[in-house]
Amino acid sequence: MDRRETLKTLGIVVGGTFFPWSAHARNEHGEPLILPDEFSSFAPAAPITAITLGAGNRGNVYGDFAAEYPDRLKIVGVAEPIPIRQERYASKHHIPDANRFPTWERVFERPKFADAIIVTTPDDLHYGPCMEALRLGYDVLLEKPISPSERECRDILARTRESGRIVAVCHVLRYAPYFVKMRELMQSGAIGEVVSVQHFEPIEAVHMAHSFVRGNWHNSTATNPIILAKSSHDLDILRWMLGRESRSIQAFGDLTWFRRENAPPGSTARCADGCAVEATCPYSALRIYHRDRQRLYVFDLPETKERWGDAILEYLRTTNYGRCVYRMENDQCDHYVTNILFDGGITASFSMEAFTPWGGRRTRVMGSMGYIEGDMRQMTVWDFRTKQSTVLESKVLEQEQLANDGHGGGDWRLAANFVEAVAKQDASVLSSTIDASIESHLMAFAAERSRARKTVEEVRV
Ligand SMILES: NC(=O)c1ccc[n+]([C@@H]2O[C@H](COP(=O)([O-])OP(=O)(O)OC[C@H]3O[C@@H](n4cnc5c(N)ncnc54)[C@H](O)[C@@H]3O)[C@@H](O)[C@H]2O)c1
Repeated sequence: MDRRETLKTLGIVVGGTFFPWSAHARNEHGEPLILPDEFSSFAPAAPITAITLGAGNRGNVYGDFAAEYPDRLKIVGVAEPIPIRQERYASKHHIPDANRFPTWERVFERPKFADAIIVTTPDDLHYGPCMEALRLGYDVLLEKPISPSERECRDILARTRESGRIVAVCHVLRYAPYFVKMRELMQSGAIGEVVSVQHFEPIEAVHMAHSFVRGNWHNSTATNPIILAKSSHDLDILRWMLGRESRSIQAFGDLTWFRRENAPPGSTARCADGCAVEATCPYSALRIYHRDRQRLYVFDLPETKERWGDAILEYLRTTNYGRCVYRMENDQCDHYVTNILFDGGITASFSMEAFTPWGGRRTRVMGSMGYIEGDMRQMTVWDFRTKQSTVLESKVLEQEQLANDGHGGGDWRLAANFVEAVAKQDASVLSSTIDASIESHLMAFAAERSRARKTVEEVRV
């Protein structure tokens, strides 16, 4: 039998006729995506209106959903301090001048003027906007992490409950068809009783250098530890797929490589300063941003591509993105392992690794009657009873594209479900309410305590 005939699909499937390129669907790196299958077709009687706080990368992911589905979501206001970002966002969404603000606080000086607030500000600016939005009666789409502080996470949860509003946390992997399917298999008895899980998050070496050595999250104290900043998604889907509460966690991890003592002889403070090893360094800023034109979504580049070269060089001269990876003020772990004990004695081990050539989570699930192994492109399900295995494949037109989509199609599904939940005023439409999402954060805080104290920590929900 032809291999293709043996493949079952996850519903992410098949050819271009069904799933055309979208003008707006972009992943977190700003790269275009093929839309997988059609998600929730629910359209409200009138579009849900929203105000975006923070018109950066994530603000545009959700903004682009509104641009593609104007019958579902309309962006009616924006707060953004960087003028060019504010201008571009406002003109894309036809936002009147009166509804453009330099900072999030200004939005809440006005009486409520939309259904929802989209919080896509930096991590330390989630708490203030979310609390204010709830005070004024908005529903909230809240980027993760909920907050870098455990107390603030608990405060937001308490205020959400008091207010009765909807707060969706952007744990977008819960909406990715691949993980939805894996969860269904784990909870349906398809592999008997789940006994243990191994989960692996390969960050990819250049992504690590970009986000966690040079980029926004390079310093764990100024932002939050990488287990929360990067891996709250993973702790969240483990808990969600198992459907069991976590009880204890133990963690080890360190920053081994991106340190001053590893700077090669002849290297310079900035890659463009005549660094002797620039041509061979995999982390060279000139190579990543200027020659390979990767990860440019952090720069506000001119409309015309011909002018990009000079603009990129200027960013490399003036921002952290041009600095030597061995001379930053970074402290995020480049390897991090955790063991987690869930209810029912189920164990999970989770590793986050910087030094991999690719991204895309890998998961192995051990059950009493079977086994699942997957890498976000496909998963194989073994049944010990029948000695059969089935391959479920997440197919896109070009595999390369899926590799670039760190969220497996989750971003816009979350946006679609948020619209539906707000229109129906029914939080149960969402799988990532704040009630459901907070445990991953408590696991991350406990992991950090364990790493610092070399102890096994309880997860106190
Ligand atoms: N769900 C996910 O998978 C995912 C992926 C990446 C980032 N994130 C999270 O999304 C959030 C935004 O990340 P990003 O990558 O879009 O960052 P970004 O830097 O691209 O965007 C943040 C924007 O907020 C703006 N801002 C700063 N101060 C502000 C203020 N006082 N008022 C209004 N706007 C302000 C910034 O100028 C910037 O444009 C972060 O919390 C991040 O951790 C989530």
